[in-house]
Amino acid sequence: MKIISRLRILVFFLICSTAAKAQLQWTETAPGVWKASAGTPEKVSLLKVAGAKPSEAAMKQLPAAKFPLAKDDITVRIIDGKTYLKFPLEVEEQIFGLGLNFKTVNQRGHVSQLHMDHYGGKDDGRTHAPVPFYVSSRGYGVLIDAARYITVYAGTAVRVDTKHPPEVIDRNDKSKKWDSAPYSDGMEILVPAAGADIYIFGGPTAMNAVQRYNLFNGGGYLPPKWGLGFTQRVPTLYTQQDILREATEFEQHNFPLDFIGVEPGWHSMAYPCTFEWDGKRFPDPKGFISSLAQKGVKANLWLNPYVSPKASLYPKVKPYSGSHTVWNGLVVDFTMPEARKLFKDHFIKNHIAIGVSGYKIDEIDGYDKWLWPDVATFPSGTSAEQMRQIYGLLLQRMTDEWYREQNTRTYGLVRASNAGASNFPYVIYNDYYSHPDFITALINSSFIGVLWTPEVRASKTAEEWVRRMQSVCFSPMAMLNAWADGTKPWSFPEVEKAVQDVAMLRMRLLPYLYSTFAQYHFEGKPPFRSMNLVDGFAFAAQESGGKLDATLNPYEAKTRADLKDQYMVGDNLLVAPVFAGETRRKVYLPKGKWYDFYTGKLAGDGGVIEVKAELDKIPLFVKDGGLIPMIPARRQAPKAGEVLPLEVRHYGQAPGTFTLYDDDGTTFDFEKGAWSKVELKVSKDKKGEMSTPPAGKPFSYEKNVTWTFMTR
Ligand code: GAL
Repeated sequence: MKIISRLRILVFFLICSTAAKAQLQWTETAPGVWKASAGTPEKVSLLKVAGAKPSEAAMKQLPAAKFPLAKDDITVRIIDGKTYLKFPLEVEEQIFGLGLNFKTVNQRGHVSQLHMDHYGGKDDGRTHAPVPFYVSSRGYGVLIDAARYITVYAGTAVRVDTKHPPEVIDRNDKSKKWDSAPYSDGMEILVPAAGADIYIFGGPTAMNAVQRYNLFNGGGYLPPKWGLGFTQRVPTLYTQQDILREATEFEQHNFPLDFIGVEPGWHSMAYPCTFEWDGKRFPDPKGFISSLAQKGVKANLWLNPYVSPKASLYPKVKPYSGSHTVWNGLVVDFTMPEARKLFKDHFIKNHIAIGVSGYKIDEIDGYDKWLWPDVATFPSGTSAEQMRQIYGLLLQRMTDEWYREQNTRTYGLVRASNAGASNFPYVIYNDYYSHPDFITALINSSFIGVLWTPEVRASKTAEEWVRRMQSVCFSPMAMLNAWADGTKPWSFPEVEKAVQDVAMLRMRLLPYLYSTFAQYHFEGKPPFRSMNLVDGFAFAAQESGGKLDATLNPYEAKTRADLKDQYMVGDNLLVAPVFAGETRRKVYLPKGKWYDFYTGKLAGDGGVIEVKAELDKIPLFVKDGGLIPMIPARRQAPKAGEVLPLEVRHYGQAPGTFTLYDDDGTTFDFEKGAWSKVELKVSKDKKGEMSTPPAGKPFSYEKNVTWTFMTR
């Protein structure tokens, strides 16, 4: 016995010491991005599936970055077919990202298992974009490129052999110093696979690390201009006549509308789907799409990808499908080119060729019981777990390619995404419905290269309605999803005007928004950003002592303040949404003077301010010297070739510049240089100037700019 247990101990130490010896070999694979392979990385990975090409030239424009961590402090062990990773963590470091979280921003102190799922109300890693990427407040990022359920201990685990042992304090002393979460000097990560590629993104700032991540993944997607207008999703069983009538109602209410979302009823059978038009509700799909087009409106089609036995695609895709069904439909193995080709032919012929502008790809995230189980198998040999992590990427990439081939940009919705998705034309949404949590998700989307919409569905009161509509108008997709209840923007007449005002304000801001998305594409800066990514703005997360409670808080854990209800749109505009029931709110201003967007009056100089939340306005602030280019209010995004009057607002006293971007708004010609950038500039003596637009490139603004100096 004794000998056996001694032997065991010896083997244990041998494993630990030999495994600990494995050193990662880092190579700079793109400017400021280092890659190392731990163990044997698998054939299927998130980045391999996403397949983006790094925008190296743009990465070279970023400030030079050094390898941000001490290499010796990064350790890897392969034990029992799994990869154990450790990255260093400083005392004051905050950790952002690690999936699309809804309740918390700083992930330090959390344990998450990054697992594709419908968000279930807890930040535990189960979410629509379980991206294994984190950004540190110290200005670097780390990505684990594995399509597996990865567990991350974000500074919760303390090793016996730590170089930085936390102080040991007796809890019996009732010392205030006792901490239920003693300092851990490591991010520890368990990948249930015998290897993974690891990427480290240099800064020097957190924003730079995020930029590098997005640029490494091809740069952010630039939506077509119409994608930034308003969109309404209609009730499931609407007919083509109902939908055309709906578009007319939008005209009558003078409410913006660029595209309409057609929900499951367009399929001849749904859940599982046929992807074929229903002959009764849609007797003339082509005529329907072109009648909508005459009203300047595009159509986006809902689908979940599970193929009905009634679908003409069924017998063809059956050999390329997995062992289990979802809602009686086949789960196609889209890693197989044959399967993709069959879908492509069908979708192009029946939808895209007649003018369908895009898709809403639903129900590929979970919930567990409404998806294939982890015991499912797929003909390519991809495991069910891997398939779960990559399915959203596969569908986004496949559909994006169809539109690229037509040289037409699309913009749609998806419920599952993952690492490598920055350049996909999709916005994430879900069935959850907490307004505050939707804003936190919007903030968190900025760390992980995805877009998120706090979609509006229904509301209990007019107040809630207007508050939700205000925030969705300051998000990547201004959407009302009335699939279940048929709500309209004007469903609450007492706030109809306020709702119309904010939707029109979004339309007026299109030049600003479009330029901000161009920044996402060309510079990698997320269009909707956490305050934690703002230069020089360090939100010091204060801790408040938790109260001892035998059931709720048995270890007297402290709670941490997170900045999770305000964000930036682009470089100049700070948005502070208001939730039903609130009449005032606090706003944290980054350093410098900030001005009220509506009045131009000084709102504060750094620090915390408290603002009154008028019902008809979402609080918006512009930084000193901030320029905001705007066009006159209109119902639809500008079409190619239109030339529009431009108003540029200036706020505060400081001089300012803004790069106004433009292109044809619908094609990919901008990727080949068919774009223009002009410099808008206000000098110290408050004179406005616009540089000359380049000759022969699309530019849709009049040269005579109206300069409005908002601050007197
Ligand atoms: C849900 C989706 C909704 C709506 C509905 C239609 O899964 O999240 O937005 O599209 O399906 O059945």
